[in-house]
Amino acid sequence: MATKSVIRDVNKHVGETVTIGSWIHNKRSSGKIQFLQLRDGSGYIQGVVVKNEVSEQVWNDAKSLTQESSVYVTGVIREEPRSQSGYEMTVTGIEIIHLTENYPITPKEHGVDFLMDHRHLWLRAPKQRAILVIRSEIIRAIQEFFDQNGFTLVDPPILTPTSAEGTTNLFHTKYFEEDAYLTQSGQLYMEAAAMALGKVYSFGPTFRAEKSKTRRHLIEFWMIEPEMAFTDHEESLQIQERFIEHVVQSVVKNCKTELETVGRDVSKLENIKAPFPRITYDDAIKFLQGEGFDIPWGEDFGAPHETAIAEKYDKPVFITHYPAGIKAFYMKPDPNRPEVVLCADMIAPEGYGEIIGGSQRIDDPQLLEQRFKEHDLSMETYQWYMDLRTYGTVPHSGFGLGLERTVAWICGLDHVRETIPFPRTLYRLYP
Ligand code: 4AD
Ligand code: MG
Repeated sequence: MATKSVIRDVNKHVGETVTIGSWIHNKRSSGKIQFLQLRDGSGYIQGVVVKNEVSEQVWNDAKSLTQESSVYVTGVIREEPRSQSGYEMTVTGIEIIHLTENYPITPKEHGVDFLMDHRHLWLRAPKQRAILVIRSEIIRAIQEFFDQNGFTLVDPPILTPTSAEGTTNLFHTKYFEEDAYLTQSGQLYMEAAAMALGKVYSFGPTFRAEKSKTRRHLIEFWMIEPEMAFTDHEESLQIQERFIEHVVQSVVKNCKTELETVGRDVSKLENIKAPFPRITYDDAIKFLQGEGFDIPWGEDFGAPHETAIAEKYDKPVFITHYPAGIKAFYMKPDPNRPEVVLCADMIAPEGYGEIIGGSQRIDDPQLLEQRFKEHDLSMETYQWYMDLRTYGTVPHSGFGLGLERTVAWICGLDHVRETIPFPRTLYRLYP
């Protein structure tokens, strides 16, 4: 075996003989030459096998290769401007690891259910690989933003005794003799962490037993939840727009090939620069009514409403100051108008829906206690959360970014199921 390389690094080996562990993505032949489309996860390269230049054994081995067979291929790396990667390999040796028979996913069209049943294999498809590379870059850019802005990463628990976002969609489980729930949001714990560390963020899985089967809902999804002490609603919005700009522009810069593979119109992403437009809930209602929607003040928006609002803008838009009655118990009322709260949802452009929900939190202990009563929440289970107001309460704000909706938007995918390696949806727990 020659020096081992991966396809991503072949530019460092031009003119050299290297061995690449790879799978046969595709193959074609023109009599005396066989073209092997090799993939190794890091990229794609064409291996050229010339009958007159290799032993009969190598030629016949190449002939026997089927889609998704695994091989060590050895050959000389050459620059090839006509190929997508810019390089090609002139094959000199082939070591077959495994010959695959009847690979279920062929270049023909398959239905989504079939592909989802074979998700463990579908991940090998170029588009699915590109989505996961972009997801990884999004996560890297998220961490980079918070690292550069003085935040500390804190991990809230997954098993919790109480609800953070309302009691209708909790996943119940037993915790020995006690009842427990899978976390819907780490927020309440992040508020405790903010009182200890100032500016914090979490990145972890969250669970919602939502019976809604939409293009935007997963049962298990990943959320990024920053929480900031001594920070008001306005300051939080400014951080959110800078944050989203950083994430989108990092992907534009670092994932050119992958954005091309998923077919994304990059000019739409290049435009995502702070500041973002804002509209109050009141004005959004007026706008929707003017557009013919039958929606009274006080009702929450559904996907069609969000899309109609988002269509007015070519950047994400903040919808601010929702009625208290349709938002979570912990949101701080607007001092000038207590029937609305200091909150904002960020709606992505092009119909991708709400990607961020955030607010300033109630810091007044009396008001928080009153809210617990109004929402019928037991003071006993939330005692620790009350303590955060009893001992050195401060104005503070935070927000939650849904990772999968962000990936769907940045990749231009019409369904969140392709944004996560193994999606958990209403009717799917396999594979
Ligand atoms: O708006 P949500 O429910 O807000 C919270 O959970 C707050 N505690 C966050 C905070 O202030 N720390 O959820 C936040 C985001 C949504 O904007 C959406 O992007 C995503 O999480 N999200 C989902 N993504 C996929 N599937 C679901 N079922 C989702 N539910 C929420
Ligand atoms: Mg929300």
